[in-house]
Formats: sequence, C-alpha cells, structure tokens
Amino acid sequence: MQRYPSRSDLSDMESYRIALLGLGTVGRAVAELLCTTRDECAARAGRPIEVSRIVVRDPSRDREVPPDLPGEAILGGDAIEAISDPEIDAIVELVGGTEAPLEWIRLALEQGKDVITANKAVLAVHGDELFGVADHHGSSLYYEASVAAAVPILQVIQQGIPAGPVDRLTGILNGTCNFILGRLEELSFDESVKAAQAAGLAEADPTLDISGMDSAHKLALLARILLGCSVPLENLRIEGIEGLSPHDIEFGWEHDLSLKLIAMLRRNSHGTSLGVMPCFLPNSHPLASVRDEDNAVLLEAEPFGALVLQGKGAGGMPTAGSVVADIIRAARGESIATPRSGVLEQITDPGDLPVRHYLRLEVPDRPGVLARVAGALAAEGVGIAALDQPEILDTVGEQVPIRIMTHPVSTTQLDAALALLDEDLRSITRPIRIRIEE
Ligand code: HSE
Repeated sequence: MQRYPSRSDLSDMESYRIALLGLGTVGRAVAELLCTTRDECAARAGRPIEVSRIVVRDPSRDREVPPDLPGEAILGGDAIEAISDPEIDAIVELVGGTEAPLEWIRLALEQGKDVITANKAVLAVHGDELFGVADHHGSSLYYEASVAAAVPILQVIQQGIPAGPVDRLTGILNGTCNFILGRLEELSFDESVKAAQAAGLAEADPTLDISGMDSAHKLALLARILLGCSVPLENLRIEGIEGLSPHDIEFGWEHDLSLKLIAMLRRNSHGTSLGVMPCFLPNSHPLASVRDEDNAVLLEAEPFGALVLQGKGAGGMPTAGSVVADIIRAARGESIATPRSGVLEQITDPGDLPVRHYLRLEVPDRPGVLARVAGALAAEGVGIAALDQPEILDTVGEQVPIRIMTHPVSTTQLDAALALLDEDLRSITRPIRIRIEE
C-alpha cells in the first residue's frame, strides 16, 4: 500500500518549482490554495511545491501576493524569461486569451516543461499543435481546470470509465450562462448579465460566454478525449443565450420545462453530432435542476448506464481546486495521454433530429399578423401544437409576444420556415426558437 511521505521525508526531496503566469481571480485563488494546503499538497505530490516566479502584466502595481506562499517567488513582467528559467519545472498559465498563451505554452513544452492551464480557448483552437509539441518533446499538458472548473470530468473520461463506449454526452458547461438563465426568472436579460458580472462570473465583455463559444471550446476538449480526434469548431452548430427573456422562462414553468444552455454529443449509426444550443429540458431530466453557476455533465453508455457529475463551473476557488490538483499530478510525474488521430470530418447537426420547438416572436398586435406567421410555418410543413398571445388591452398595434409550441420538426426545417416570414416581421425582432429535448 502506498503511504504519504512524512514531513521529514519531504524535507530531503527536491521541490517542484512552478511559474505562475497571471494573478487575476484564478491566479490569486491558486496562490491562496497553495498556501493553505501546502503540507497536504507536498504530501500528495511526494515533494514540496514552490512558486518560484509570478508573472503579471504590470509588476509595479500593488498586488496581494500571500506572504506565506511556498517558495520565494520573484515577481516580474516577462513571461518568456520566467519560462526559460532552468530552475522552473512547470508553468501554470492562468492569463486567458489565445495569442500570448499559445506562444508561452508552446515554448514551455518545447523546453520539456510541464504546462498546467485553465485555458480552454487556446486548447480548443490550437490543441493539435500543442499536444503534438508535447508529444514530440516528452512534456505534459494538464488542463482539468479548463472544463467545468471544480468538476474533475477530464479525469473521469480519461481514466474513470472505459475508453470508447460513451455515445451520449449532455453538458451544462458554462456557469455564467446557467447563472444568467436562473436570474431571468426575475430580471431582464441585460439585468441578468449585470448580476452575473456583479457576482464575479461574467467578464466586462460577456460575449464568449453568452454566444455559446466558451461551451463549444469545452465540448471540443471533451470530444477530443471521447472520440480520439480533434473537432473543427467551424463545423459545429453553436448558439448562445442572447435575446432570451423572462417570457421564455415562464413558458418553461407552464410546461414543466427548464431552460438550459446545452452542449451535446451524440453517436449513432448515422454518425456523430455535436453542438451547443439553448434547450428546454423536462423538469425530470437530471440536468434540469442544475442551478446558479454549477456545471454538470451527463454521460450515457452501455457499460455503466447514466452518470452525472455536477459542481461549481466558474469562479476563482472552484477553478483553482482543479489547477492545484493538476499541479500535484504534474509534480508526481503522472502524465495523461491525450489521443490525437486526426480530425473528425463528418459532423452531423444535432438540430437535424425532429423535436418539438418553442418559438417566440415579438410582433405588432394587428389583424393578419398571426396569419402571416402561420402561413410561413405551414409552407415548410411546421405544425403548430399550441399557441398563446397575452391580451394587452388598449394597445392595438403595440408589440406582443406570440409563443408557439410546434409539433416535432428539425431545427433546420423551422429555420427555413422563419426565413419565409416577411422582412418587416423579421426585422422587428429576431425570432427566438428553442428545442424541447425529450
Ligand atoms: N466563463 C466560464 C463560465 C468559466 O462561466 O463557465 C471559465 O471557463
């Protein structure tokens, strides 16, 4: 049986020295966690872990570097210098963005150093190159924190379940969007985004989150492990939560449905479909009750049935937990192979599967408008299963929301119908349409 080394054993061991790139929300949380769990980390890693360098954009600014940080960190502004320091075993990249981190990660891997990162964007877009460099130089890339923050989903799909059999993955992979959708129960979309910013979740520019792109980056990383190849993001249906409103949430309440931004992977005899879309889930679905900034992943496969992992998907400390777990794995020399065998060429659209859809149109309350909407739907064979429009007295001609539930159709078929709406109706407001997953 393996035992943790004692303090006296550890004092003879060579330290594992890291350079921390970035001291923002996650960087500070990592520093704090390394202080408060110093002994436990060393015991698990089998050697002390020290922060030897910290790199920030402007080192002259006052920073809160915890005074009891393990190691004697040199604070500087030059990432290349820190990465090239021969004393450094690993870089912990927590800056975000793609351009500079791509260069730093590549350089560190070329020098045989370990890289620990929470940067999903750089790995989703440049993964082929970076995993290739790591292979070539015998270095390792750890990225548990890049998907679903505190949830150790990469460990589970890499090591905890048999390779190959997962044929359905359904994920809530963006904590900010899940938080915003929860707040929409009481607030407008813009107010909900502001609430997410006030809670320290959404960036000043929340586009990456609310456009669905952040979820797509994470889905691509999960798919790389599950399918053994890379996924070209440009071939995916990626839709976000922009423009959703309390009207949509209320429709969910009336029909026992919960509105979530869903990343999905489906494999069957016709191929593999991948995409990110807002979906209504029945309230009995395992992900329907996931609230606030939690993330959750439902894996379905023959050998184990259904498996759900859930936890905090955003925020400094939840992300730092996974970063520190990766630092420990790296210090122990446990590398994890990431499969690379080409690009997934044939991606089908998850929107092809016919399901009921919810449709909301903000239209002028005038005679004939409903007939034009119904005509466009009928022309593409989209059947209306239910419809409502609130009565707004004394406001003939004002805008009202028409909410429609369709019979099962593909999203593509519904979009073709919406494209037939006359220009003046479409220009009033972008129609909102949401799949109702069974
Ligand atoms: N912005 C992300 C989210 C967290 O809200 O889920 C970092 O991936």
